[in-house]
Amino acid sequence: MSELSAKAEKLDAADELAAKRGEFVLDEVVYLDGNSLGALPANVPGQVSDVVLRQWGSLRIRSWEESGWWTAPERIGDRIAPLVGAAAGQIVVGDSTSVNVFKALVAAVRMAGEGRDEIVVDATTFPTDGYIAESAARMTGCTLRPVQPSQVPGVLGPRTAAVLLNHVDYRTGRLHDLPSLTAAVHAAGAYIVWDLCHSAGALPVGLDEHGVDLAVGCTYKYLNGGPGSPAYLYVRRDLQPRFDSPLPGWNSHAEPFGMRGDYEPASGALRGRVGTPDILSMLALEAALDVWEDVSIESVRAKSLALTDFFLECVGEYVPQGRVESLTPAAHEERGSQVALRCDDAGTVMKRLIERGVVGDFRAPDVLRFGFTPLYVGFADVERAARVLGEVVGGS
Ligand SMILES: Cc1ncc(COP(=O)(O)O)c(C=O)c1O
Repeated sequence: MSELSAKAEKLDAADELAAKRGEFVLDEVVYLDGNSLGALPANVPGQVSDVVLRQWGSLRIRSWEESGWWTAPERIGDRIAPLVGAAAGQIVVGDSTSVNVFKALVAAVRMAGEGRDEIVVDATTFPTDGYIAESAARMTGCTLRPVQPSQVPGVLGPRTAAVLLNHVDYRTGRLHDLPSLTAAVHAAGAYIVWDLCHSAGALPVGLDEHGVDLAVGCTYKYLNGGPGSPAYLYVRRDLQPRFDSPLPGWNSHAEPFGMRGDYEPASGALRGRVGTPDILSMLALEAALDVWEDVSIESVRAKSLALTDFFLECVGEYVPQGRVESLTPAAHEERGSQVALRCDDAGTVMKRLIERGVVGDFRAPDVLRFGFTPLYVGFADVERAARVLGEVVGGS
């Protein structure tokens, strides 16, 4: 046994989250793509089958009330809340992240008010946020300023209305400094919107603690909600009365079944709702959240850092020097839960890795992404992934 395999064995033996893997449907593949689509929690099929066959098939329309369908967006929001450091009553689940970015950003500009006509956006953002920010700017009469996150404090001023940032960069895995960037935006009198897609379920976020205004995120990555599972929107409690949704659908009405011609927003986070929730996906997500019952996000973060540290160590050992370059910061406080390696032939390398049972993903033009989900990835997986990578790029 190699030194690194022996080390992996020791780390796995001491891993307090190791048993969690048994709560997922997995096979012999080393699955390092949970930062794109989380694995299937084993209890989901049974619960979805109950939703379909009993709640829909048998109770039919009665389920909106009797099976709690109508209140699912707020109820499931409250289950996500502790994972992102939010008290109950501030998160609603529904729609996609893209749609929630739109709601949050336009609402932020509306809150900022007269004289503030600039939206600052992360120039390296996941593309959808940039596209939506451009449209939101056009619709609200704002100018869009794309800048590197580190340069955000330098461009803030009396005209800044809102700032849209990613907590963790989808490409490099870089973790941005949410507390200090939020404080800088507030000092300028503007509103912050954080995209938590790559941090929720992987590391502590501390939304309430750091006074974040608005946040959005998806649930199909580290929260394992399934393909296309609904996203969520956080609106800080004291801002809720001023949250003026650009998509005021009937589900966010104070009296949705009053069928009134005039719009009166509901109070609380459910102002962020729009139309009829996608119940099947939403209740699959609710079942998927059961795996978090006895897990602290701090222990997930500790294991995530240990996994990414160990992966970088193994890559250093197994991959010929200079063949790949890590784009992921070495400093823990700047690292999310993924490692991104750059190499010119990344597309081919990832194909070979997948053929050999190591699943990460490729981001054009030259990035290999490996996501580490502490609930089901172990240290032996990490050692094997790096070893196979070494074989693939070394030609053996
Ligand atoms: C940071 C980030 N924002 C937004 C999205 C897109 O979200 P959706 O497809 O739910 O609109 C993704 C998808 O991977 C993402 O990584």
